[in-house]
Amino acid sequence: MPEFVGAVDQGTTSTRFMIFDHSGNEVARDQLEHRQILPRAGWVEHDPVEIWERTNTVMQNALRNGGLSATDLVAIGITNQRETTVVWDPRTGRPYHNAIVWQDTRTDTIASALERDGHGDVIRRKAGLPPATYFSGGKIKWLLENVDGLREAAESGNAVFGTTDCWVLWNLTGGPDGGIHATDVTNASRTMLMDLESLDWDDELLGIFGIPRAMLPTINPSSHPEAFGKARSSRPLRAAVPITGVLGDQQAATVGQVCFTPGEAKNTYGTGNFLLLNTGTELVRSKSGLLTTVCYRFGDEPAVYALEGSIAVTGAAVQWLRDQLKIIAAAADSERLAATVDDNGGCYFVPAFSGLFAPYWRSDARGAIVGLTRFNDGGHIARATLESICYQSRDVAEAMEKDSGVHLDVLKVDGGVTANELCMQIQADVLGVPVSRPVVAETTALGAAYAAGLATGFWQSTDELRTHWQESKRWEPRWSEEQRRTGYDGWKKAVQRTLDWVKV
Ligand code: G3P
Repeated sequence: MPEFVGAVDQGTTSTRFMIFDHSGNEVARDQLEHRQILPRAGWVEHDPVEIWERTNTVMQNALRNGGLSATDLVAIGITNQRETTVVWDPRTGRPYHNAIVWQDTRTDTIASALERDGHGDVIRRKAGLPPATYFSGGKIKWLLENVDGLREAAESGNAVFGTTDCWVLWNLTGGPDGGIHATDVTNASRTMLMDLESLDWDDELLGIFGIPRAMLPTINPSSHPEAFGKARSSRPLRAAVPITGVLGDQQAATVGQVCFTPGEAKNTYGTGNFLLLNTGTELVRSKSGLLTTVCYRFGDEPAVYALEGSIAVTGAAVQWLRDQLKIIAAAADSERLAATVDDNGGCYFVPAFSGLFAPYWRSDARGAIVGLTRFNDGGHIARATLESICYQSRDVAEAMEKDSGVHLDVLKVDGGVTANELCMQIQADVLGVPVSRPVVAETTALGAAYAAGLATGFWQSTDELRTHWQESKRWEPRWSEEQRRTGYDGWKKAVQRTLDWVKV
């Protein structure tokens, strides 16, 4: 009997394959980065073929690392960076263009035209999203308008769209030889093209973007025993393992953190930060700059929704210190450098590299470091970078409280940056609530494994999954109310500068 569940986590900077046992413990993994292609300021692309090759390699390596074969896997889940847009020829599997990544701002004129032409309200009402460069709809429109012959190909079924879950699934299930062209409700809810109530592509929204329905994947639940098919035995796994869970990475992390009850929330610290609050089967429409999104849909049960605060640049700001400013050699050094100073020395860093997402939604904002004096050194810049991660999280936590009335008594956290102890302490200080990290910090892959294992009966219920969750570390707030207030006031002033910048 197969005893394990595998999960592909196709993320913004890397792809990993993780294998979990019945208790939700990690058994094996492998991970590989892919190239970040930056052709112009504001443009971010990935090579879909490279991503698929990396996916192959990490699957094979993880199995080898665990001394396992694919027949030991009861099922596979797929989770992914959301919104990133791939369009390919289903006859050959060749992409028409590099994938346009969620951070890419080339569609800012498309996004502002949507608002100017009066389409903003219908997109907000039906899709739960503000018109912004972030989502897939504008990226598909850009490709249709800028790649020669693509519109004709799309209309005749020779060009299909998918987010990277869909691209990996199609390849894994056969590619040009009968690959399954499907996605799940959580990924579809990030396109500006799906109606959150009907959970189907919406003709009015498709009309606004000029996108032919023929190029879109089937929308499935996030967890289903048959809808996503099986891996082809001729493909990397060399066994027909069922694929029974697919969901976007932030929704997967919410599942991995077992936030199954309305009012439960998690904050994931990756390239960006994503705070999701489970609002149950009720659709809560934000008045404070958050997104309404599908949290998950298990089988034929009703969809569960979430409010989401998406922040474009958090961990990526630490990478910027490493790669562009070169004041640290590795991301982990940011903790050491920031710890050389007691506070930010009056300096704030707003890393609005892709504009500002929630709750501001200003694609024209640009980054700023403010409050500098000659006294400031690299320690202050590193400290201000960690603080920017935490202040941005406070911005979205406040918006969430306004929209939902839910006050977080504790913030459940996960993701790479949570290894930075100083950053987590600052987060507790800035928010004034404890911050709690689970033992299994890889909640994204775990959530995809949970969705897959629930569909096959490997796990019986969400109650069973709850019993797996254990706290590994908790940070208690240490700042006085006064420190918290003045610190946040400074942050708000700094944000205002990045919004004013375009007016200068
Ligand atoms: O919406 C974008 C998000 O899904 C990206 O997540 O972890 O790949 O940076 P991550």
